Amino acid sequence: MNSSKRCRPGQRIVSLITAAQIQSRVAELGAQITQDYEGHELIILGVLKGSFIFMADLVRHVDLPLSMEFLGLSSYGKGTQSTGEVKMTLDLGHPLAGKHVLVAEDIVDTGLTLAYLLRMLSNRNPASLRVCCLLDKPERRQVPVTPDYVGFTIPNRLVVGYGLDHAQILRNIPFIGALEETS
Ligand code: IMP
Ligand code: MG
Repeated sequence: MNSSKRCRPGQRIVSLITAAQIQSRVAELGAQITQDYEGHELIILGVLKGSFIFMADLVRHVDLPLSMEFLGLSSYGKGTQSTGEVKMTLDLGHPLAGKHVLVAEDIVDTGLTLAYLLRMLSNRNPASLRVCCLLDKPERRQVPVTPDYVGFTIPNRLVVGYGLDHAQILRNIPFIGALEETS
């Protein structure tokens, strides 16, 4: 599928994971999380901006008392190579001490962002800390971090859509696609 009107000129999107496949996997993740945290209250902590669509769908499949928090991290700037330098663009409004925290991430690539985030969040003494990511690119890992819940393991390609961007656009594609340059 090619959603050309959402692309910039010279770009094309090739569908990798359809909207239906995403919905069915997100429902499975929600059911698993519901089972694993039974009897507990949960904070689902979305990492902006990439996780906002994933998180919005995921929380509707988690049948538990939960609250939602967001923090903003930026690691890419306008390019596609991770600098390893992570900038916090929005901090949390509430303490995490004694809470069960599940981080919702769009994608784990080199792992540098997640490693930084997990270090920072452990310092806030949560009762437990786990990670649920929609996509995992294990081939690209530079530091050893392993998400607890993974939607899809994907090869080393630049993907966009369902919240993931390229140079800040293409988040509004309703499926996951690979970005190709046509010119
Ligand atoms: P990492 O620090 O290299 O693991 O990268 C983490 C962040 O980079 C993710 O949370 C995404 O926001 C972004 N990212 C990594 N790979 C992609 C991609 O293929 N498309 C869009 N964003 C990506
Ligand atoms: Mg992200």
